[in-house]
Amino acid sequence: MPTLAVYPGSFDPLTNGHVDIISRGALLFDRIVVAILVNSEKAPLFSLDERVEITRAVFRGHPNVEVDTFDGLLVDYVERRRAQVIVRGLRAVSDFEFEFQMALMNQRLNAAIQTVFMMPAEQYTYISSRLIKEVFSLGGRVHGLVPDMVEARLRDKLDAKR
Ligand code: PNS
Repeated sequence: MPTLAVYPGSFDPLTNGHVDIISRGALLFDRIVVAILVNSEKAPLFSLDERVEITRAVFRGHPNVEVDTFDGLLVDYVERRRAQVIVRGLRAVSDFEFEFQMALMNQRLNAAIQTVFMMPAEQYTYISSRLIKEVFSLGGRVHGLVPDMVEARLRDKLDAKR
């Protein structure tokens, strides 16, 4: 049976760390679904539609990468999709505690779903969407840390605020 993996998250915005994990997942699994959480934050910088559009554009030409949205419990979405695996990225020890709790809670909720942790390339281990937004809004360079499309959209958002 082909293995379908779900890579859930807020992706506000998509970073090159996410891109790296998705690319690795696409090599490992038959299909990987990037599942963007609806309503992850009350006021996300990027709308859900923008996040879907960006992720689809970045993975255009990758037939086994799909982009979707989900609401409610992750395990219910994974079951509905008939996926077997949840993929999460682990950057540093600091990620571990929360990820460990989520993985075990998800395992309790649905023991048939396995969580697989993947490490991004070393150069992305310190990147987070939150840091990208903060650094960019304060005038810092994020080039090389996010896809070009994200960088351009961040610039547009900053210009619109001026
Ligand atoms: O990008 P993030 O914010 O680290 O992703 C967190 C996410 C979306 C994976 C997590 O918040 C989630 O799964 N939310 C859906 C609701 C749910 O199932 N909560 C219980 C998780 S144990």
